Amino acid sequence: MTARRIRFTDREPAQADILDEVLSGLFSPKKRLPPKLFYDKRGSELFEAICETPEYYPTRTEIGILRDSAQEIAETIGKDCILIEPGSGNSQKVQLLLETLHPAAYMPMDISKDHLKLSVQALGAAYPWLRVHAMCMDYTAGLEPFEPPPASAESKKVVFFPGSTIGNFEPGEALAFLRRVARLVEPDGGLLIGVDLKKDPAVLHRAYNDAQGLTREFNLNVLHRLNTELDADFDPGRFYHYAFYNARESRIEMHLISRGAQEIHLAGEVLTFADGESVHTENSYKYTVEEFQRLARTAGFGVRGCWLDDCNLFSIHYFDLPS
Ligand code: AVJ
Repeated sequence: MTARRIRFTDREPAQADILDEVLSGLFSPKKRLPPKLFYDKRGSELFEAICETPEYYPTRTEIGILRDSAQEIAETIGKDCILIEPGSGNSQKVQLLLETLHPAAYMPMDISKDHLKLSVQALGAAYPWLRVHAMCMDYTAGLEPFEPPPASAESKKVVFFPGSTIGNFEPGEALAFLRRVARLVEPDGGLLIGVDLKKDPAVLHRAYNDAQGLTREFNLNVLHRLNTELDADFDPGRFYHYAFYNARESRIEMHLISRGAQEIHLAGEVLTFADGESVHTENSYKYTVEEFQRLARTAGFGVRGCWLDDCNLFSIHYFDLPS
């Protein structure tokens, strides 16, 4: 019997789970929202547009590193792995690796179902030799429900986590995530991960305050989303986009700041804002190469490779579990 080459598993989180998370964030003393909320259809489009701006260097820099070093990266990892990508989005970056890495299977996971379905179809057509097993899920709720196909049980598992998405996690959460990845790829797998580097704060500031205002739109889009999906009555015109580099914490912080005092209704509750009060919508932590390697070692990984661009803006690391 032949297994289907393209498979799709739907573990899309229930709207009720999202509502719970939104409400607990908004009704806590320091209002916050989870960054995964950004990625509805419009948010995903805005993010792709941000990646094209001259100010937002991470995407194009990481793609450049992948292009220049695909051969070396593939040799370091070895052929026929099961390649797992949490938060795969449009699966654009992995395509720079597929031909040279030649994995036994590619397993993308993403919370945005329609986006994932489209990219899986496109990948299936573009790479007729590739097995694609996709899963719509919220990987921040745990990688555990994810099971690799039994037919490739003997291949080693490698997690691909590009884009410096790891920067969204607080250091403690980042360590917990790396430990979960280690457990997932046991006994002899690895992790290929893109991590944005510390640099001149002015460069960072520009990257999150682009001249076209796309990052501003991206940030404010979560309010539109709460309005349509959770029946809230936010007026996005009454919030500022505020993004800055917090050097003490080594992170970009994105906030939505209330213009004046206001009351918002959602899910039968009243949410009050003082003038200038913020909703913290995202952190984007920056690391040095050494800091990140230390974190990975603490999670049980060994350092196997590190690739940078010529300007040291961005890093791609390969870690593995010594067998
Ligand atoms: C996709 C989470 C890595 O933090 O740079 C881009 C998201 N936010 N502009 C980042 C983002 C604002 C991005 N990550």
